Amino acid sequence: MSEPNFVKTCLSLKINNSIFFTLFITNKIAYGSMRTICIYHSETGHTHAVMEELAKSVGAELIRVKDRSGYGKATMYLIGAPKAHMGALADIDPDTIDVAGYDLIIIGTPVWAFRPTPAANSIMKAIQNSTGKKVIIVCTSGGSPGETLPIMSERAAALGMDVISRHHISFTMRGVRDEEEITALKRAVWDLARS
Ligand SMILES: Cc1cc2nc3c(=O)[nH]c(=O)nc-3n(C[C@H](O)[C@H](O)[C@H](O)COP(=O)(O)O)c2cc1C
Repeated sequence: MSEPNFVKTCLSLKINNSIFFTLFITNKIAYGSMRTICIYHSETGHTHAVMEELAKSVGAELIRVKDRSGYGKATMYLIGAPKAHMGALADIDPDTIDVAGYDLIIIGTPVWAFRPTPAANSIMKAIQNSTGKKVIIVCTSGGSPGETLPIMSERAAALGMDVISRHHISFTMRGVRDEEEITALKRAVWDLARS
């Protein structure tokens, strides 16, 4: 590389790094005062991966709720999906989640039979002290979320929560997710922190 080109490259790297660093620090400062918790069910790991990444980027806490039914590959469809379709509840661990200490709650569910999972239905019952809290609803699916987001949003609103936004992240059969949808979700959370 010629000397002027080398200098140009170094300068551009320095500028890019400074911009990145400034944005990173600004986001961290903006986010510092926003106590956030992600509460979600994830049976096969997609929703968990999304929530974990989101939590890392904003410094949120995570609660992954377990369905005590202990589904296998077949029983998820044979028992879990019909239960989800009926809006049934599940026996979950933990069964009480106090959100009094948080400003923003992010609730996540997989889509089963076009609806939230039974464990996600139970999350909405398990949450305590949620009145007036900001909430972002997230679902992951194979591409057909059906009624999941409206159902979760209505339940959150019925608990007196302030529904800020709702997001659907689709995964292919091979587990490849839609990056644009993930970016939109992260942006919504950052925008909230800065507002
Ligand atoms: C029992 C069952 C029912 C499902 N029903 C739907 C559905 O109605 N629509 C859809 O798009 N994907 C459906 N899926 C795919 C899941 O929603 C998708 O893989 C999701 O990301 C799984 O989240 P998880 O890995 O966090 O459990 C279903 C998966 C299972 C296991």
